[in-house]
Amino acid sequence: MNDFIAALPKAELHLHIEGSFEPELMFEIAQRNQIEIPYKTIDEVKKAYQFSCLQDFLDIYYAGAGVLIHEQDFYDLAMAYYQKCYENNVIHTEIMFDPQTHTERGIAFETVINGLQKARLEAKEKWGINSLFIMSYLRHLSEESAFETLKQSLPYKDLITSVGLDSSEMGNPPIKFKNVFEASVKEGYIPVAHAGEEGPTEYIWEAIDVLKVARIDHGNRCLEDENLVNEIVKRDLALTVCPLSNLELRNTDVMTNHPLKKLLDKGIKATVNSDDPAYFGGYMNANFVAVQEALNLSKEDILTLVKNSFNYSFATYEQKKIYLEKVYEVVNEFNS
Ligand code: ADE
Ligand code: ZN
Repeated sequence: MNDFIAALPKAELHLHIEGSFEPELMFEIAQRNQIEIPYKTIDEVKKAYQFSCLQDFLDIYYAGAGVLIHEQDFYDLAMAYYQKCYENNVIHTEIMFDPQTHTERGIAFETVINGLQKARLEAKEKWGINSLFIMSYLRHLSEESAFETLKQSLPYKDLITSVGLDSSEMGNPPIKFKNVFEASVKEGYIPVAHAGEEGPTEYIWEAIDVLKVARIDHGNRCLEDENLVNEIVKRDLALTVCPLSNLELRNTDVMTNHPLKKLLDKGIKATVNSDDPAYFGGYMNANFVAVQEALNLSKEDILTLVKNSFNYSFATYEQKKIYLEKVYEVVNEFNS
């Protein structure tokens, strides 16, 4: 089963580039930028990565991202992630980045996007990996700040496919960003949003009805409202589920209680993703293996999840066809 998971080509639809910042690279960049970090050893860092909720994690995640200053830093960060994609057979990825995490510290939007773009071109050239960018607004900040970010993004509009909404969910409902999402869609960005990770089902309703999202990031809590489940199925909206993240942020007590199989059984188009792999202990294959073992998922289930990842990506119809052919090549190899 693990070999099957590893061999399958996959798409990742929920990955924060700042969350792929491995401690080793963090130390290296902190040193060259002469920035103090509150850890002396990699072991100390790993000990600090014990979270009791989303906010606990976010505090450490923003502190880590604080060492990223130069275009080269963003390039190095992204190249390290693409290397993991290559190792995990992720051939298509939709990368979220949080401009405000950097612009709030005085780093130019241009510095961030140029570093990411340089890595994207190189990853395509070196490993054939396709990737799209999702610019995520930080929901703990104001809608005005999101509008400012939208404005800063416009010269780079052709490089960005989608807008997202992340950070502290409780107390920051999707409706707070109604106007900036409308404006973003007018600029051609596809809307997605984190909803129902920690937040209540009302936030998922708002994400779909008010922000009119094309996909829901996390969305696990939809299972608490049968009408919502039916609506998600009816509107054919995919969920980008992140098993190891859910475990590490205590949204799931033990992996055997993870809702992924229930979501699939309800007819929801779920996908598996790594969210912030450097913080949650695993990239794509590790997420698949963890959830497969805990929920005893069949090969059919794995195949459904992988097909969902391509079908509900923002790739073109033509690209999707090619991706699915690659998937079936591997399936046939394993069946022969
Ligand atoms: N930013 C990075 N990871 C996140 C998560 N899992 N939820 C909300 N915001 C995030
Ligand atoms: Zn996320």
